[in-house]
Amino acid sequence: MPDSADSFAPSGTRSAHIPTLEDLEGALGSLDGQRILVRTDFNVPLEREGDTTRITDDFRIRAALPTIQWLVDRGAQVVTASHLGRPKGSPDPKYSMDAVRARLAELAPGVELLENLRYDPGEEGNDDAFARKLVAGIDGYVNDAFGASHRAHASIVGPPRYVPSAAGRQLQHEVEVLLVMRTKPARPFVAVLGGAKVSDKLGVIGALLDTVDALAIGGAMCFTFLAAQGNSIGASLFEPDQVETCRQLLANASKPIHLPSDIVGLDAAGNVQTFGPRLPDGAKGLDIGPGTAAEFGDVVMDSRTVFWNGPMGMFEDPRFAAGTKTVARAMADTKAFTVVGGGDSAAALAEFGLADDVDWVSTGGGASLELLELGDLPGLAALRVGAARG
Ligand code: 3PG
Ligand code: MG
Repeated sequence: MPDSADSFAPSGTRSAHIPTLEDLEGALGSLDGQRILVRTDFNVPLEREGDTTRITDDFRIRAALPTIQWLVDRGAQVVTASHLGRPKGSPDPKYSMDAVRARLAELAPGVELLENLRYDPGEEGNDDAFARKLVAGIDGYVNDAFGASHRAHASIVGPPRYVPSAAGRQLQHEVEVLLVMRTKPARPFVAVLGGAKVSDKLGVIGALLDTVDALAIGGAMCFTFLAAQGNSIGASLFEPDQVETCRQLLANASKPIHLPSDIVGLDAAGNVQTFGPRLPDGAKGLDIGPGTAAEFGDVVMDSRTVFWNGPMGMFEDPRFAAGTKTVARAMADTKAFTVVGGGDSAAALAEFGLADDVDWVSTGGGASLELLELGDLPGLAALRVGAARG
């Protein structure tokens, strides 16, 4: 791992320092018997079949264990809390934490888990009353939810106003790795972007271009770019209201932006086909094509730092997994320093058995992009302000 970044180093101004677990122990004297609220990102991929819900990748739960164990070892009563999916402010059994609670009980027996934070509109509304409810009876707060720290939601930014607070181990390591990547990457530095949360990501691409030397764009987000270049995209997913943004990005980009030159998808009759960058009517693009995958693989092999966020296609379906697999293999094979961010890309790597062959797997997709873009996150700012308040 690279040297630690400035943000966790002790610094002259207290307000610049993000408290660690050790700082929290110092602030509370002892953790023995103290109730500690740990905000985790247990927003894990689920598979539902009839009445049973299965977690398809528990990486985000396992990532919180070092922090939970550290607290438990010191006698703390740990209460975890997370969002799951996007239930929009009211209880919805589809997003119940039951499956997560069962897995957590196997991995960390005796640790509590509250119900889905997003069942309450106060969470996304960043309602102070909801934050106060969360810290009632709580002695200290730990944010270990890196993947949600770009959201200014009540459970992320509220508790540091009320109780001694700290960053957990996962959050701390994520920030260290990504800030080093942002401030002193070995060059060339390339970012490979894909995935489905297109509008979340479009906003950061402009700023990311200041940091990286090149971008490669696949996944569902490529179709908005292909449309911006004047290509027909058939029935592929795209964001009509973002086409103009993409057009301007492409026109003003001072660095190369690699876009797909071929696409694999379904034709209007439902047959798998390889198309050029122009898709016929009714055709739906679901993966980058073999030529594009080879090109992106070469870009990864020739770089010295690579950040990859978002699968290149609908890899859950083996017919559309090849592009993601080629990029994943290049990530594993390249000599570059490699970081993979986001639940779906991490799940893809795990599925291909390559998770141990990259330098860092981040638990956050949107959060890692925003940290690379801005160098800070609402969740980190809240911990710093909390520490300054003392
Ligand atoms: C994620 O899965 O990216 C995080 O858990 C954040 O979820 P959100 O995009 O629904 O806020
Ligand atoms: Mg995500």
